[in-house]
Amino acid sequence: MVERKFFIDTDTATDDAVALVMALRNSDIDVLGISTVAGNCTIEQATQNALYTQNLVGSTVPVHVGAAGPLMRDLQSAHHVHGQDGMGDIGLELHGREPASYRGVQALIDAIMDNPGEIELVTLGPLTNLALALRLEPGIIDSVKRVVSMGGTAVLPGNVTALAEFNFWADPEAAFIVVNSGLQFEMAGWDISTAHAVIHDGLAAELRSLGTLGAFAMDIQAVLREFCRNETMLDGFDLPDALAMAIAIEPTIVTREAHHFVDVISGDGPARGQTIVDERGNSGREPNCRVIYEVDRERFLQLLRASLTDSP
Ligand code: RIB
Ligand code: CA
Repeated sequence: MVERKFFIDTDTATDDAVALVMALRNSDIDVLGISTVAGNCTIEQATQNALYTQNLVGSTVPVHVGAAGPLMRDLQSAHHVHGQDGMGDIGLELHGREPASYRGVQALIDAIMDNPGEIELVTLGPLTNLALALRLEPGIIDSVKRVVSMGGTAVLPGNVTALAEFNFWADPEAAFIVVNSGLQFEMAGWDISTAHAVIHDGLAAELRSLGTLGAFAMDIQAVLREFCRNETMLDGFDLPDALAMAIAIEPTIVTREAHHFVDVISGDGPARGQTIVDERGNSGREPNCRVIYEVDRERFLQLLRASLTDSP
């Protein structure tokens, strides 16, 4: 089978790590590079978390350091969700690894421009790097094969405010630039994560029993589990980035979708980071987004189990 070429942009915390394992362990996918971005945690921590995860699965994919913060505001991280180290505070050795470069934005551009029509870009964090890449090289709009973004929400509520999901809220100006750039993208929002990607305690125990990677993927969710128990009131924890990666890997797991123009509210008002899904075409703007409304949960779980099952 012809190998597919991925590039992954990530603010590596606990659900990003599971998504990275899914891509890095898939034999049909050649991950050309990983760029890190500040979001869940600082750029330094996100980079170390990405390097730890890459090392855990024996990957040598280059990890390139990207933006250390949003375009026009200070970073507001999510340590209360994923832990101080972004990986559940379970004592992992998340330091001392060397990235391939400190040119994450250029690495994203180079991967796309050097492989015209081939790169499937998966974004798992704030869109700071992608916005900067679009300003540096608008040619990526036509050169990239597809863009799958974990971000936004097609159905309210959001997770960081009633109106907004974290990735689009953390850097709303970057999200605004991306969605208004002419780039076509696929939105795997917060709504489908809470609907189809919640891992309840019994399932978590089953996934943990798959082996080393299963134990890693479940144990790092310790802080997230408590946050979901007390804040988002989920019966378990959800894995939005892993679901977005599953959609990137296997687009046919999507069971309901529509193409609409999607905009994002920038600035500091109560609607900061809100996703505006123009379902009735009121804006008169051409659709820019494959809005994903429903996913086959069992097929998602199949992909997740396969990625966490230790090699024979
Ligand atoms: O809102 C969920 C998103 O924000 C996920 O990507 C999670 O990792 C955080 O970055
Ligand atoms: Ca993320």
